[in-house]
Amino acid sequence: MSVDLSVAVGTLRLANPVLSASGTFGYGLDLVDLCPPEALGGVVTKGLSPLPRAGNPPPRIVETAAGMINAIGLQNVGVDAFCRESLPQLRQRRVVVVVNVFGETMDAYVQVLRRCEEEEGIAAYELNVSCPNVSAGGMEFGHEPQQLERLTARCREATEKPLWVKLSPNAPDLVATARAAVAGGADALSLINTVRAVAIDAERRRPVLPRVFGGLSGPAIKPIALRMVLEVHRALPEVPLVGIGGIETGRDAVEFLLAGASAVQVGTATFRDPAAPLRIVRELEAFCAAEGVGAVQELVGALAWP
Ligand SMILES: Cc1cc2nc3c(=O)[nH]c(=O)nc-3n(C[C@H](O)[C@H](O)[C@H](O)COP(=O)(O)O)c2cc1C
Repeated sequence: MSVDLSVAVGTLRLANPVLSASGTFGYGLDLVDLCPPEALGGVVTKGLSPLPRAGNPPPRIVETAAGMINAIGLQNVGVDAFCRESLPQLRQRRVVVVVNVFGETMDAYVQVLRRCEEEEGIAAYELNVSCPNVSAGGMEFGHEPQQLERLTARCREATEKPLWVKLSPNAPDLVATARAAVAGGADALSLINTVRAVAIDAERRRPVLPRVFGGLSGPAIKPIALRMVLEVHRALPEVPLVGIGGIETGRDAVEFLLAGASAVQVGTATFRDPAAPLRIVRELEAFCAAEGVGAVQELVGALAWP
């Protein structure tokens, strides 16, 4: 049985619903032999800021039961280097590129968007307003609905391309932040970013990470992410969602689609299996074929509600 894997995230059509998640797949070109980025629904870049950032001091990653905690601190090459060095290759390969944007101020977000708008070959933007391990920006915007609406509206003015806002699982009121992003002009919501977490070294009696707090990702957060996708989908059924959090298999991806996500992103799984996003596309196809699902789009929001 042939399966139509294509999906729509608002106005953006994707050949399949599996994208690489920001910060876990570089700028899309590190793993071309193992996981060709053009074979995915799309690639979300590492978060880009106006200028390069060095990130936090090491260690920046700790393994935990069923996941990991990271405190990378948004290290990146800066938007200009991305546009000059990576984007031309991505364009040549016809990769669907979603640029993840991060700034310490609202102006910084707009600056990244303006620079990107000078270029061809960007399909959409994803605003990271939810990073739990930097001292300024990001987190504050994602936690305060009024600020988030203003930030989204300012970014909306800077581009006509699809604008996704990536929500924080750490926000006091998830649905309020979702509504604020939509009120500001977001076309879709990505959820979730990492869950604020701590690792402690018992012998040294010290936090493992120099900045103490980091973000938990991987299978440990999947049930939380599913709950959040479901809650936002039920509150705002018309808004396209992109589900993220602990997806390791095609079956995991199906669960997110059923909960209401139009597409999914794969992050931490890539650390163990660099070809994970591609494998998940194949597993999703096999699941649909076995279950008699002719088009993956049929699964979106198809969860039976008891
Ligand atoms: C090492 C690492 C770096 C990340 N960097 C970013 C980032 O720059 N911007 C962002 O929006 N999310 C970032 N994330 C969050 C992921 O994109 C994703 O939302 C989260 O890890 C949950 O998905 P997962 O469980 O599949 O990893 C990062 C995650 C990890 C593990």
